[in-house]
Amino acid sequence: MGDRKFAVFYVTTPIYYVNARPHIGSAYTTIAADVLARYHRLKGDDVFFLTGTDEHGQKIEQEARSKGLSPKELADSVVEQFVRCWKTLGITYDHLVRTTHAYHEEAVRHLFSILQDKGDIYRATYRGPYCIPCESYLRPSELKDGNCPLCGRPVTLLEQENYFFRLSKYQKRLLDHFENNPDFVLPRSRYNEVLNRIKEGLDDISISRTAFKWGVAVPNDPEQVIWVWFDALTNYLSGIGYPKDSKKFERYWSYAVHILGKDILWFHACIWPAMLFAAGLTPPKQMFVHGWWTVEGEKMSKSRGNVVYPEEIVEKFGCDQLRYFLLRETPFGQDGDFSEKALVRRINNDLADELGNLLNRVVGMAQRYYGGKLPERPAEVAFDELVEKATALPQRVDAHLERFAFNRALSDIWDFIRLMNRLIDHTKPWELRKKGDMGRVAALLHSLVDGLRVVSWLLEPFMPDAAVEMRRQLGEEKAEADWQTRIAWGRSKGGQRLQRGRILFRKHPE
Ligand code: MSP
Repeated sequence: MGDRKFAVFYVTTPIYYVNARPHIGSAYTTIAADVLARYHRLKGDDVFFLTGTDEHGQKIEQEARSKGLSPKELADSVVEQFVRCWKTLGITYDHLVRTTHAYHEEAVRHLFSILQDKGDIYRATYRGPYCIPCESYLRPSELKDGNCPLCGRPVTLLEQENYFFRLSKYQKRLLDHFENNPDFVLPRSRYNEVLNRIKEGLDDISISRTAFKWGVAVPNDPEQVIWVWFDALTNYLSGIGYPKDSKKFERYWSYAVHILGKDILWFHACIWPAMLFAAGLTPPKQMFVHGWWTVEGEKMSKSRGNVVYPEEIVEKFGCDQLRYFLLRETPFGQDGDFSEKALVRRINNDLADELGNLLNRVVGMAQRYYGGKLPERPAEVAFDELVEKATALPQRVDAHLERFAFNRALSDIWDFIRLMNRLIDHTKPWELRKKGDMGRVAALLHSLVDGLRVVSWLLEPFMPDAAVEMRRQLGEEKAEADWQTRIAWGRSKGGQRLQRGRILFRKHPE
């Protein structure tokens, strides 16, 4: 199956702030990472999938206070909600890093000290605008009508003696890295966006605070708390054992693929690689920047009261259905719009009418004509287009996933599903049977069982439950372990038992 680019695959999500429970935005990033992790595991790669929670900073401290809780109490209760939600969504992370974990805090102090020893961190006075919700310093020239250019909310003026990171020193290294690694940031438009901004010049950035206490204290200076983004970004290292477990860390780090939303591009594509350069570490291998979901055309927000919670959607429509919708509806790099109407349309058309119906037809055919038991596989299976497409499909899906083009992978799989439905329509097995041409009926049935098995494996990372159920109905549940065998053409066997099962995808009123 094409070039095996990763034998080791390390994928991360951003770590989520604990001032809000998970919504479809956070679910989106996490589901995408999960699909990749599951896919690479199927291929036999050594996979590490890291997610986590971002628990320090003024925003969390304020939110906790407004609820009458300590920041840690707030974090504990929200983390529980995240863990539950990830379970509901079938997320198979290997580790969930919390920035309040002792090993993480230690990693942050360690990294800070290394940069300090190197002379890349120094003390100076900062005066200027600061956005608390985004936890970021801004240049006065960046403000939009006096407000934060990222979130549009009012900024606070800060004057304080802080520790600074010599970001400016790394401009050249960053430019070289971008030039030598054209796929460092995907999609290309985001790569260009960051590159252009780096070219404009970099200011050193303040990386500590004194206005509040909830965070990791600067080593040997307990008055100062390390900036929450410095703290948060370090999770990608601490989550795989840095600095203590160097074996684990070295095994995964150079393969790191970060998935993130467009709002946090700058932190990941400029500040983070510069911090790593300063620490003598390599930047992550790659990052993919996805778009944002609106809800029925509007920005999703607590104050608008239109936040979509994944558990509620799963309860009403199912987990595989939500996973499918989010990755099928919009190209991963672009913004998408969520509505139950659009979700139902996808469920009814793609899932129920096309995939579910195909499975029914195939199982029905086996039962009607052969009592559920596949006849011997004919020597020749003469449906050339089907064989060609089925043989090429895994490679196409692989190439799309390599480029994070989930919607294209799914749309290719659906072209093949439609082809199988058309083949039944054109071949008309009911007429062949009347004519007594059972050889051709057997050939058709074997081809369809093969095709559906290939589809089930390619869909497994996206819709794990449905994939297993498909194979159960096809009599394919005793899976061979090797990926190449699983997706190979021509493996259906005479005697294999097909059986009806639960309805794969229920339709909903439109
Ligand atoms: N804590 C930081 C990340 C630190 S990573 C070292 C953070 N957290 S967040 O909870 O605000 O956002 C986490 C992710 O969710 C981001 O990638 C963000 O883009 C994504 N989304 C938040 N709302 C979203 C939508 N409405 N749509 C899609 N993704 C969205 O930023």
